[in-house]
Amino acid sequence: MCGIVCYVGHQECSGIIMDGLSRLEYRGYDSAGIAVLHEGNIAVARQEGKLSGLVTRLNESPLPGKMGMGHTRWATHGRPSENNAHPHRVGSVVVVHNGIIENHLELRAELEREGAQFSSETDTEILAHLVSQTLSKEASLKDAVKRSLERIQGSYAIVVMNESSPDELIVAKNASPLVIGMGENEMFAASDVPAILKYTRDVMFMEDGEMARISQSGVELTKLDGTKVNREVKRITWSHIQAEKEGYKHFMLKEIHQQPTVIADTLRGRVSIEGSGVATELMGFDDATARRIRRIVLIACGTSYHAALVGKYWLEKLAQVPTEVELASEYRARDPLIDPNDLVIPISQSGETLDTMEAIKIAKAGAARILAITNVVDSAIPRASDGTLYTHAGPEIGVASTKCFTAQLAALYMLAVHLGRRRLTLTKDRARELLENLLRVPTLMNEVLKQEDRIKQIAQDMANSRDALFLGRGLSYPIALEGALKLKEISYIHAEGYAAGEMKHGPIALIDENMTVVVVMPNDDSLKRIVGNVQEVMARGGKVVGIVSESDVESASIEMERIIIPDCAPEISPLISVLPLQLLSYHVADFKGTDVDQPRNLAKTVTVE
Ligand code: F6R
Repeated sequence: MCGIVCYVGHQECSGIIMDGLSRLEYRGYDSAGIAVLHEGNIAVARQEGKLSGLVTRLNESPLPGKMGMGHTRWATHGRPSENNAHPHRVGSVVVVHNGIIENHLELRAELEREGAQFSSETDTEILAHLVSQTLSKEASLKDAVKRSLERIQGSYAIVVMNESSPDELIVAKNASPLVIGMGENEMFAASDVPAILKYTRDVMFMEDGEMARISQSGVELTKLDGTKVNREVKRITWSHIQAEKEGYKHFMLKEIHQQPTVIADTLRGRVSIEGSGVATELMGFDDATARRIRRIVLIACGTSYHAALVGKYWLEKLAQVPTEVELASEYRARDPLIDPNDLVIPISQSGETLDTMEAIKIAKAGAARILAITNVVDSAIPRASDGTLYTHAGPEIGVASTKCFTAQLAALYMLAVHLGRRRLTLTKDRARELLENLLRVPTLMNEVLKQEDRIKQIAQDMANSRDALFLGRGLSYPIALEGALKLKEISYIHAEGYAAGEMKHGPIALIDENMTVVVVMPNDDSLKRIVGNVQEVMARGGKVVGIVSESDVESASIEMERIIIPDCAPEISPLISVLPLQLLSYHVADFKGTDVDQPRNLAKTVTVE
């Protein structure tokens, strides 16, 4: 995610920038840095760790100056460290960046061949080199930035400053947020409104493919090709806290709504439709090893365990590798059989969960290869693993995991397609079709989010329930488990998830007119059978809420509450059908007035046994 703030004006700026960064810490917090121009020289201070470290450093050695930029980092390329912290400096140019440069490996190799020396592992430093190199050939800083951006693929929000351009900052945006703030003889830009709200409420939201020259006297906004843009200035009426949540009532709701963007970020630069493949630079094993894998063991806790259960279906079906799923706490409670040809995949949003960490130690002792799926770069679990497939979901603040779950699913799906190609269990055409379906997920998720009002109505009724049952079959079974977990953890309603086929083996005894049964029933091979389960529930007076596909005719005659999801390929349905369940739990909890973002007795990272 990362947070950016910059300032040019008549005031000393380092305090303003640091104050802005402190309001963006929710976007990332593994390192931070600031650069300030003073009397023709740019001074840079960077620090690993939370912002407070940089504050202490600046208190000891203040940076004077009236133009500058700051950054709080959420690592994507390169571990959290002072060297990898932004701003990055090359010659007289400094850059801060939020986003992912997809073609960074090619560009870095090219720049190194031309003699460039890199001091970090980041993709961002490439941009600083490109601008510095181009500056000697271009008349203006803006043109140099423009030429450099033409060579970059990926997402970015950037600020560029140059020692010999004393009254201008160049900013640009593509697929990462950037807002310009307009003050009296002073201008700001930031990743998000809260960073500048204390100083101005008049803002201009930049759009993709735009850049701007910002100076004390104003802003010149253009498209990358130089065409002038006239953007309306908006007056912000939100408080700081509302602004951090982008106007959503809770972080959880914001994170649910972020999912289309998060999935796009997790796939960015990794999925190649032309090559029917998935980039694997961080996986830590080569093609020959991929072919040698005899068994996959997915290990996780809680919501991440549910992602693992979905992963098993994909890995077995697409890559045809026998796959087992283990609760980390149980795996470490026995003496599991481990083989050097096993691929062990710990899945953990935080990368710090103690049980998962201990399970890795056991698997390593058995000489298995470890590939982590994690959201937090360089956290304990990736450090203990041979390779890591990072989800790029940005920090998740709501304790109940939502966006990290779907990002884990996207990572597992990519891995299954990758292994399927390497092991020749998927043809090129089938892999391409699977990847095309995956790339449709953000659009389909947006369709689901439009159902929120309908889901809210259903949630209002459900808020008075004491118990709820969630049913699913096949790929929808882990989604039913996840729906039940979400509901119980934030609304405190007792909820159970079951494989629909297990109904007759016990849970059916619970059904009466007080029981709400949520059935995940997208259009797939199991639909006919699950419609049978719905009828069994209805016959016993249970209330059914069906998560059904748009074109479903199989259940059309059943009188139940319906939440419609768009038609999609069966393989990707878990990524779509979980969204209504997240929204349902959220709104039930909100009607009940519970502490949605910090439910009682729960912690975001579980580092105890
Ligand atoms: C539920 C939830 C937890 C976590 C579990 C594992 O919403 O967030 O069940 O999934 O504590 O955490 P990580 O993924 O950080 O290992």
